Amino acid sequence: MQQVTILDKTFEVMISRKQIENRVKEIASQLNGEYKDKNPVFIGVLNGAFLFMADLFRNIETPCEVSFIRVSSYSGTSSTGTMKQVIGLSANLKNRHIILIEDIVDTGETVTFLMKELAQHQPASVKLVTLLFKPAALKKPVTVDYSGFEIEPEFVVGYGLDYDGYGRNLQDIYVLKKS
Ligand code: IMP
Repeated sequence: MQQVTILDKTFEVMISRKQIENRVKEIASQLNGEYKDKNPVFIGVLNGAFLFMADLFRNIETPCEVSFIRVSSYSGTSSTGTMKQVIGLSANLKNRHIILIEDIVDTGETVTFLMKELAQHQPASVKLVTLLFKPAALKKPVTVDYSGFEIEPEFVVGYGLDYDGYGRNLQDIYVLKKS
């Protein structure tokens, strides 16, 4: 399926399932080396990272744990307008090696917020693994430790990422078709 229509938009394949599979295995193998016997905890950011996490995690060979969090935005009274909160962060992260798993780093706002929240739990280390990274869209200085694919600042769907809730089940990654 080279092209797909979701709601009112047409998308075309940008990264194939085979390319994703190969890259996920490469990252897993690097993590297996770096975290051997360090008992890391993988923390996935829902909803977008669920497929990436599943495929990555099944290739991890060192003892480790997994959990998922969600970031919700709400209108607060701060001067910035919307405030974010994390749901599902477990309390026992002190002195643990955290591997944060994201679907995509776009402006970097979400990851910057999450890194601050995680630091409050006094972990031994925190590293960021993202499937996709749009360096040209960054608005905050973010350190991406492992990135699956660097892409242009274009809208993408599939393999966990959605357009208005749809398209997460697509096995390839699609980009909005230029008309
Ligand atoms: P950021 O905070 O701007 O870095 O973006 C965080 C979230 O925006 C990601 O976790 C995605 O859920 C969503 N997002 C950013 N770019 C895209 C895209 O191209 N397709 C689908 N979702 C995206």
